[in-house]
Amino acid sequence: MENQQLIPQLGFGTYGRNGKEGIDAILCALETGYRHLDTAQTYDTEFETGEALRRSGIARREVFMTTKISTDNFGDGKLIPSLEKSLEAMRVDQVDLTLIHWPAPNGAIALEVYLSQIAEAQERGLTRLIGVSNFTIALLQQAEAIIGKGRIINNQFELNPLIQNKKLADYCQRNDILVTCYLPIARGTLSGDPVLSSIAGNHAATVEQVIIAFELAKGYCAIPTSSRAERIRSNFAAGKLQLKQEEIALIETLDRNQRTIDPDWGPDWD
Ligand SMILES: NC(=O)c1ccc[n+]([C@@H]2O[C@H](COP(=O)([O-])OP(=O)(O)OC[C@H]3O[C@@H](n4cnc5c(N)ncnc54)[C@H](OP(=O)(O)O)[C@@H]3O)[C@@H](O)[C@H]2O)c1
Repeated sequence: MENQQLIPQLGFGTYGRNGKEGIDAILCALETGYRHLDTAQTYDTEFETGEALRRSGIARREVFMTTKISTDNFGDGKLIPSLEKSLEAMRVDQVDLTLIHWPAPNGAIALEVYLSQIAEAQERGLTRLIGVSNFTIALLQQAEAIIGKGRIINNQFELNPLIQNKKLADYCQRNDILVTCYLPIARGTLSGDPVLSSIAGNHAATVEQVIIAFELAKGYCAIPTSSRAERIRSNFAAGKLQLKQEEIALIETLDRNQRTIDPDWGPDWD
């Protein structure tokens, strides 16, 4: 995978990290060592993300910053001004990665319309890299036919032990599209799982650390979030946890294709 080195594998999600408490949590993540922040126009955390970076004193180039274009901003002539507004909110000249947050609901706007605009945003230097989120294999293929192979470097979608999205993840990896897992720790709902608890026991780790270590071992990026300093730190420490091959194989058996985020206007999932 040529693109493997482009994005720090462990990032900090910012969904729900709004206001003063949100800034404190993002700042805590930066102080802990996270160098990849994931925001979106719809989270209302672009300001918080930029503000935490500014307060941290860490140089802009040290931190990989992603934002996502809301489906409201796909119309002709709307995407670039919306990204300029995002940069203003974050107080940066360029983001590292801009994603199409979702395919247009019910396909109401043609892929060409918004993909050509995000490609132009990259050409103008507003974003270093471009990618997508919640795209299926069919949509990725259509997108590549429109803007060319190799242009889309990342697909962000729901992936955790309960929904391992193997077919899509394999397709992405075979085509050098980095996989980013959202809901990477299934929002903390797996703490009582016996298989994960037993693996966690082998390493004196938490279940969430085991899950994150699993995703990193698969070569994916993971962007867990938390409002609490101790969890922000313990999730980050998962970056040092090495699972054995047999533990990874056991976690693979937990896949239930159990999707949490599934709007009725979403795509036909693989
Ligand atoms: N592209 C998309 O469509 C999309 C969709 C959803 C999310 N995302 C991105 O993915 C990021 C992560 O997803 P997410 O926030 O929905 O889910 P998540 O990271 O899987 O889970 C976060 C939740 O788990 C809890 N938590 C965190 N660490 C924990 C730990 N060690 N033990 C137990 N519970 C823990 C947190 O509660 P506390 O705050 O109480 O710790 C929080 O409620 C988002 O922030 C966002 O950036 C993208």
